[in-house]
Formats: sequence, C-alpha cells, structure tokens
Amino acid sequence: MNPPEKPAETPPTSLFGGAPDAVTIYEVGPRDGLQNETTVLSVERKVEMIEDLVDAGIRRIEMTSFVNPRWIPALADHMEVAARVRRKPGVDYSALVPNMRGLDSATRAGMKEVAVFMAASQSHNQKNINKSTEAALATYREVVGEARSRGMRVRGYVSCVYGCPYEGAVPAQQVIDVSAALLEMGVFEVSLGDTIGVGTPRQVEHVFRSLLAAGLTMEQLAVHFHDTRGTALANITVALQFGVRTIDSAVGGLGGCPYAPGASGNVATEDVVYMLSGMGIDTGVDIDKLVGVSTRLSGLLARELPSKYLKAHMGHCARLGRSV
Ligand code: HMG
Ligand code: MG
Repeated sequence: MNPPEKPAETPPTSLFGGAPDAVTIYEVGPRDGLQNETTVLSVERKVEMIEDLVDAGIRRIEMTSFVNPRWIPALADHMEVAARVRRKPGVDYSALVPNMRGLDSATRAGMKEVAVFMAASQSHNQKNINKSTEAALATYREVVGEARSRGMRVRGYVSCVYGCPYEGAVPAQQVIDVSAALLEMGVFEVSLGDTIGVGTPRQVEHVFRSLLAAGLTMEQLAVHFHDTRGTALANITVALQFGVRTIDSAVGGLGGCPYAPGASGNVATEDVVYMLSGMGIDTGVDIDKLVGVSTRLSGLLARELPSKYLKAHMGHCARLGRSV
C-alpha cells in the first residue's frame, strides 16, 4: 500500500504583508562612510559628494561628526563641510554630536538636526566616547534638552545591538534600556546599529519583538546594518516585515567604526535601493545617479567599493564596452 499522501501545505500569505510601500533612506556615507577611510577627501569633494547624493534623491543625510578631531581625524573639517553644503528644501541634513561642545559647533554650522550616539554595551561606550553608559546618558540628557530648546530635531543611535567587539553577546534588555532612555529624553527616532555586522535574521526578529513588547513603536525605530559578514540585506528584510520605514546605508558600502575592530562597511545604498525597488517599495532614489556617485568615490579613494550592485553594473558596462 502506498503511504498516505502528505496533506498539501497551505502556502503562507505574503511574507511581506507588514512591509511599507515606501521607505526613507538615511544616507550615512559622508559620515560613517568616510570616518574610517585612510584617504581623506578635501572639503570640496565632500561637499560635492553630499550635494550629488541629494541630487540622486536622498532626503535624509548625515554630513559629518562634531567630535574631537583627535579621535576622528578624517572628519576634522566638520565646520567647513557643514557650513558649505547648499541646503535643498525638503532635505534633512544631520551630524553626530557627542557633547555640548559638539552641539555648539553644530549650531554655529547651521545644523537643524543632530544625532547623539552610544552603545548598548559598557565597553564600547568606554572605547568610543570615553564614558560609561550612565555617564553617556547623563551627558545626552543635557545635550538633547538643549538641542531641542534651540529648535533642533535629535536622532539617537544605539550601537552594538547584535553584539559588541569587546563583550560579545549583548542582552536585548540593554538595548531596550538605552533606547527607552534616549526616547524619554526627547530623541524622535532611535537607529539600531549592528556596528560590527554580526546580526542574523532571527536575532533581528528577537530584538524587534523585545522592543515592541517593551512599548516602543516602529515609527520610533530605524535600522543601521554593517555588512561585515554579508547578512545586512537579509536582516533588512526581517525589519521590513516588522514595518520599518527608515533604513541607514552608505553609498558604495563605505564605512566602519574606528573603535569597533573588524567592522567593515555599512550596507550599500545601491544594494538597498535595488532590493527595495524589486520588492515594489519606493525610496525616491535614482539608482543610476547613485552609481555615478559611488564610481566617482571609488576613483577618489583609489579602491574598489564593496557595493554588489556597483560591481554588477561595472561588469555589465565592461561587457557592453560602455563607460560606467
Ligand atoms: P574626551 O577625550 O573624553 O573628551 O572625548 P573631554 O571632554 O575630556 O575633552 C578632551 C579634549 O577633547 C578637549 O580638548 C576638548 O576640548 C576636546 P583639549 O582641551 O585637550 O585640547 N573635545 C572636542 N573637540 C571637538 N569637538 C568636540 C569635543 N569634545 C571634546 N565635540 C569625546 C570624549 C566624546 C569627545 C571623544 O571620545 C570623541 O570625540 N569620540 C567620538 C568617537 C566617534 O566619533 N566614533 C565613531 C562614531 S561611529 C559609532 O559610534 C557607531 C554608529 O555609526 C552606529 C553603529 O554603527 O552602530 C553611530
Ligand atoms: Mg555605523
């Protein structure tokens, strides 16, 4: 007798039922992308990069960091860059600030939005901003309050959400505590950073479920994946199923934190835009113009950039004997 036939499995209804129709790309190439490069671009080239990205359709962009230039020499020109970029209406320009001194510089440079940043782990806070978690929160309480009283919007970053280069695993409760504290002091959004690119899809699910169960909402959350181990796009698809609407990325896949050994580039903006457009999710970004920016940057930095889309595009052009 034949074994009974296995009942046909019901196919799942769309896996992406919770995904939004449109997503905002928060471009971090000029800041996270350039902060760790050995070739330091001139102020003119940085300004051109930012303006070209905006011309490609980017509507939120992080231009620089008002941090101690001894810690991040590649962004020592923060005042000139931030002051010189021609602002386009409808675009939000932001920059990192670690303390009141940074906030004052950002104010002088005409910034209307700034971002405070810290990790969910003690050791990364100590190495990256020279403060304990508690001291960082105390500093930011003052900085966020003052920035808001100056009429600025403040974004918050929580790094090492999926793992810390010094401590290893980071409990979700630490991510909840730091995110909730930042929101409570007045940041409008928390960007969840996989600083060293160790996260995998089930972990992303766990982090989002934990944050939502603790009362945070998807409107308050953005994702920031580094693609060190090639899991960034897979992780983004999980965040999309939860309904995330803001995705951080860097043109060409530039990036890395100098105080996170082994960290490599952010997920490439081209790769995110390509994937989202294939999924019918609008970003408003022109991928051909984006490729123009990353091709120029690859020349200026004299290295091949990690973006997969860029590599495929270059290969395609080479086969057709066309310039990129
Ligand atoms: P510190 O040395 O503890 O600062 O640095 P301090 O307050 O003791 O001051 C020491 C000196 O720094 C003084 O100068 C200050 O004036 C100066 P001196 O009197 O010795 O000549 N100073 C400043 N100079 C310019 N701008 C400032 C500033 N503040 C103090 N704002 C500090 C503390 C936080 C400033 C330092 O540790 C720092 O700049 N750290 C920044 C590190 C950084 O930018 N890391 C990369 C960010 S990437 C990241 O965090 C991850 C992210 O991408 C998300 C993810 O991937 O997960 C966001
Ligand atoms: Mg980063």
